[in-house]
Amino acid sequence: MSKKNLQPAASPLIQARNIVKFFVSNGNRVDVLDGVDLEIHAGDSVAIVGASGVGKSTLLHILGTLERPDAGSLLWQGTDVFALNDEQLAAFRNRRIGFVFQFHHLLPEFDALENVMLPALIARLPRAKAQERAEELLVQVGLQDRQHHRIGALSGGEQQRVAVARALVMAPDVLLADEPTGNLDPRSGRQVHDLLAHLNQEKGLTTVVVTHNLELAALLSYQITIRDGKVFRLPNDQR
Ligand SMILES: Nc1ncnc2c1ncn2[C@@H]1O[C@H](COP(=O)(O)OP(=O)(O)O)[C@@H](O)[C@H]1O
Ligand SMILES: [Mg+2]
Repeated sequence: MSKKNLQPAASPLIQARNIVKFFVSNGNRVDVLDGVDLEIHAGDSVAIVGASGVGKSTLLHILGTLERPDAGSLLWQGTDVFALNDEQLAAFRNRRIGFVFQFHHLLPEFDALENVMLPALIARLPRAKAQERAEELLVQVGLQDRQHHRIGALSGGEQQRVAVARALVMAPDVLLADEPTGNLDPRSGRQVHDLLAHLNQEKGLTTVVVTHNLELAALLSYQITIRDGKVFRLPNDQR
């Protein structure tokens, strides 16, 4: 073991402890997460990989506080977030977490700039500030010349890049993405995963991405998978 490994690690940004989640359907209990322990540090980029139905989305939703677990706790920089009430939790989520899903969920009647501004306006940032941030982010995702295009006039890859910009407008601690390239052709998918890798590597954005895309997973700093309701880290040399 090198000396480096003996130094105390910085405290994690997110710490999941003994997370349990089950669903009951048709009277049968399905145990999805069965004691998940996981630590994510600032600057990490994590790929969650694994077969369909193993619980990847469930884990991401719990990490993102969209769903509450049946047991266990989630600490964000030491704060037990599931001890917050729903209103406090929604405010926390709006400020601290950015989400990108497989389908972009952008508002088609608005243009790219307005869609990116929206979370900031909901958080009551001054309009000029929201616009300034949204313009900067559209430059970062390579869409400076598409600001005033309606969502329907953009390609699938461009729409997903707008969704990434929207997820970042509140300058969240972490970007959570659930199969962000799952609905894209290979070329657009590659643009989106290059963007996510760039945001992590150049901007230090902490990123957790559920993906079936092995190329994307390989660009991130490590991979985890779920087996029998538990999380395992895949060794980097077994990619
Ligand atoms: N709301 C729900 N009600 C009942 N079962 C659910 C619900 N959400 C997920 N599941 C079940 O939990 C398991 C894990 O689902 P999910 O996290 O979506 O898997 P993945 O994202 O890895 O494909 C699946 O068996 C799924 O059918
Ligand atoms: Mg899923």
